[in-house]
Formats: sequence, C-alpha cells, structure tokens
Amino acid sequence: MPPFHGERMKTYGKIIRDTTEKVIQNWTPGSTFKAQAKMQEISLEVILHEVFGLSEGERYREVQRIIVKMLDVFSNPLSATFLFFKGLQKDLGAWSPWGRFLEGRRRLDELLYQEISDRKAQSQPLGEDILSLLISARDEAGEPMSDVELRDELMTMLFAGHETTATALSWALYWIHYVPEVREKLLQELSGVDVENAEAIEITKLPYLNAVCSETLRFYPIIFFAFPRILQAPMQLMGNNLPKGIMLSPCIYLVHHREDIYPEPKRFKPERFLERQFSPYEYFPFGGGNRRCIGAAFAMFEMKLVLAKLLSRYSLELAEKGPILAVRRGLTIAPKGGVRLRVKARLS
Ligand code: HEM
Repeated sequence: MPPFHGERMKTYGKIIRDTTEKVIQNWTPGSTFKAQAKMQEISLEVILHEVFGLSEGERYREVQRIIVKMLDVFSNPLSATFLFFKGLQKDLGAWSPWGRFLEGRRRLDELLYQEISDRKAQSQPLGEDILSLLISARDEAGEPMSDVELRDELMTMLFAGHETTATALSWALYWIHYVPEVREKLLQELSGVDVENAEAIEITKLPYLNAVCSETLRFYPIIFFAFPRILQAPMQLMGNNLPKGIMLSPCIYLVHHREDIYPEPKRFKPERFLERQFSPYEYFPFGGGNRRCIGAAFAMFEMKLVLAKLLSRYSLELAEKGPILAVRRGLTIAPKGGVRLRVKARLS
C-alpha cells in the first residue's frame, strides 16, 4: 500500500465520500435495504478506484460484475466449504460452485492482464493508483515486477480489500442500531461536526466513532484466525513447549473474548476503547507482525467516513428485531441475512 497521509488521504477521502453519496442518495423513508449489499457496492467501487484509478469503462464494469459473482458463489456456508477442502475443488462445469468460481477467475485474469499491458504501453506518466505504483516499483536488483506478480498483487488487493471492509461496516450498522445508547452517543458526537464539509481527518479523529469501529472489530473480527505461521525456532508459549516447524494460527476471536482482558466480553461496549489502550497481543483484528494487514489504516478510514455520512444523512432502524447470528461467508464471518435496515427519515 502506498503511504497513507497528506494529499493521498484527501484524495481517498473524496473517493470514499463521493462513492457513498452515489450509493445512498436516493433512499426514501419507509424503504429497506441490506447493509451487506450496499456496503459491498461502496467498498468494491472504492477499492477498484484505489487499485486501478478508474471508475468507468466497460472493462472496469466487467471486473466489478465478475467479482460480485465470484463472491456470491461463496455467500452460503456450504459453498464456502470449497475454499477450505482441496478435494472438493473440482471443475464440474458452470453449474458447480467451484466450476463457476474458476470460470470467473479465468475471465478476471484476462481482464487484469489486458489492463496491465495497456498501462505499460501508455505514453503518459503513470498515475497515483496502486497499479501505477506497482508497475514503477523496482527490486534491489533494479528489476520490475513480472506480469504474473502484478496480477497476483492486484487479485489479492481486490479480494482482501473489499469484502472485509463491507462486512465490518455491516456489523457496525447492526450494533449501532441494536444497542440504542450506542446510536444516541454516536449521533450526538456526529452532530458536533459538519460531516458534509469537514476535512476527512476531522471525522476520522472522533473518539466515539473510533471506539465503535474498534469494538465492532473486537466483537466479530471479520477474519477469525490470523494467517498460519510456521515456527522457525522452538518457543515456549504459556507453559507449552512448541517445536520448530510447527504451524500456529492465532485465533483473534478467542483473544478478543477473554474475560480477563475484556470484562463482559459478550456485551457491545465501545467505552472500553475510551477507557484504556490494548496491546497488539490483546487486540489484533488486522493480525500482527510482518504479515499484518496492509490495508488496516485504509479500512478504518473508510469505515469511519462511510458511517459518518450515512448516519448524518438518514435516520435508520433494524427492519428485523432480535439478535443476528454470525455465519461464514467466504473467508469472513458475516451477519446472517446481511442486516436489513429501514429508512425512517432523511435528515439532511
Ligand atoms: C475491516 C477490514 C479488514 C480486516 C478486518 C482485515 C483483516 C486482515 C487480517 C486478519 C489479515 C491477516 C494478517 C495476519 O495474518 O497477521 C489480513 C491480511 C491482508 N489484508 Fe486485510 N483486512 C481488512 C481490510 C483490508 C484492505 C482494505 C486491504 C487492501 C487495501 C487489505 C489487504 C490485505 C492483504 C494484502 C493482506 C495480506 C498481507 C500479507 O500476507 O502479508 N485488507 N487482513
């Protein structure tokens, strides 16, 4: 990821706010929508913009359509099983989940390679988007990345970067409307800012908004396990002797629900993030160490800007009462049913 400050933050802030505006502008009182679907529309457009620097054109729209279709294959827990068991990964044609996934991947590969080749052939200077930065990057030996490496990087960004953020936003919207005092406090904080015209940084620094986003990622940390690590040397962990070569997979969810670190762990309580700071061993929704999520700052930035805009524009309520269960959706843990919300009134 490119460094995330100053002018670039302003540009990204504008992209996020304009995209949110486009998606939410025509909601009418009484209508309902699924948070997961709408948040995905926003986060996919934002990540495509960030990665390719594009937001229109036939190729761009096709990339968008294929990604949505590929993710839909894994939108139910049964199909998601294919991601975890190699034996199930058989191409049985367009009607089988894995076959549909492979077909999407083949077409997406073609489109990405076309884009890489067009960009390299362009005469004008490269832009500020991630693909441009990757094309101009050189390793220690002065070598550029190969097309296959570029394609791999693009694919990882597109998939790691949007479903996670959309799911986090859907959980946040659920909690904000499920716990009335959280909604009240957040709206009160937002009423002190001119959300439409304020600098992005003014919004992203709001303490209660930050606490709500942090608590959302504590409660259901989207990705339950950090990626597996293989020990390079033996180590002792909480009285256990672990040999070299063993594979460890830290469970983020279990740590985030330890009663000694988070009293009343099953309560959604943003205040805990105002009362104390947690160490990277106590709180790690984005993993840790040298493989920590490279999009962490961007994801938090996006969550805050989208929530601030949405909540200051509309008064919303949950369309279905009662708690929502967490279910597996691809590699993420998402709210079952996608969080249906109803528009009560337009505020601005
Ligand atoms: C709320 C949103 C997000 C959550 C909860 C999340 C969570 C995570 C987690 C837990 C990991 C594994 C880290 C580890 O094993 O230590 C990870 C890796 C990664 N994430 Fe995210 N992520 C989010 C958003 C993003 C965004 C917006 C991007 C890109 C713009 C992104 C790109 C990546 C990449 C490329 C990796 C792999 C890093 C590596 O293997 O070195 N993520 N993410």
